[in-house]
Amino acid sequence: MDSRPIGVFDSGLGGLTAVRKLLEVLPGEDIVYLGDTGRVPYGGKSRETILRYAIDDTEFLMRRNVKSILIACGTVSSNALREVQEAAGAIPVTGIVELSARKAANSTRSGKIGVIATAATIRSGAFGNAVRRYLPDASVTEKACPLFVPLVEDGRIHPGEPLIELCAREYLAPMQEAGVDTLILGCTHYPLLLDVIRGIMGPDVTLVNPGEETALYISRELTARNMLSGRSDGGSQQYFITDNSEKFGSVASLFLGRDAGQFVTHTDITE
Ligand code: DGL
Repeated sequence: MDSRPIGVFDSGLGGLTAVRKLLEVLPGEDIVYLGDTGRVPYGGKSRETILRYAIDDTEFLMRRNVKSILIACGTVSSNALREVQEAAGAIPVTGIVELSARKAANSTRSGKIGVIATAATIRSGAFGNAVRRYLPDASVTEKACPLFVPLVEDGRIHPGEPLIELCAREYLAPMQEAGVDTLILGCTHYPLLLDVIRGIMGPDVTLVNPGEETALYISRELTARNMLSGRSDGGSQQYFITDNSEKFGSVASLFLGRDAGQFVTHTDITE
């Protein structure tokens, strides 16, 4: 048994898609979430900056005595996993790349797999490389979608809304042309666009939700290592954000599927 909290971080709110799954599968665990909303988005930044931010985020969670760290951010997972693991020392760290790639490799029938993610994630090549480790002959089509994160953070997630539809149709055109049968949503913000993306790609394309895959993995790992809290429900939640934007509450509840306003604290990343 281990009563310490599970730590989760993201550049912003996207990581809440992983928390949503954690709350469902591990209702007895305490969760500490850091959303670096003051510095989001990370996806257009240089690798050096992403590394620096990722270490700040990791150290913030370490100071909260977490037992495990979930990097609920595709950009950090693909650019800084090793550095976060080094900073975390003995605390296990799980990113979203490997598990999503494995899921995609197991799901595809044609071997044609698509990856959509932030510019920094696509530039790293991490998802494509991971998919090919599981499926060497896979044909991987990758596309950066830089406008998705600001649109999602602005709540523009509903099918039929002109801005998001226009943007998604342009970004997904190469996936349709390549005939992918499996699409990795390589950024934790993108599951909020599930309905929009499914509407364009059609019901036969498998969409891989990275936050969910990672939350399920953490649940299995903590169980196997006997590191759960031992409670069956009633775990606490704390959400730290580095910028107290007015829209946090409403957008966060979209991601979480529940109201989190009372658990939110505005913090300095160095605290
Ligand atoms: N949630 C982040 C990710 O998964 C994207 C947001 C950002 O660009 O910072 O990559």
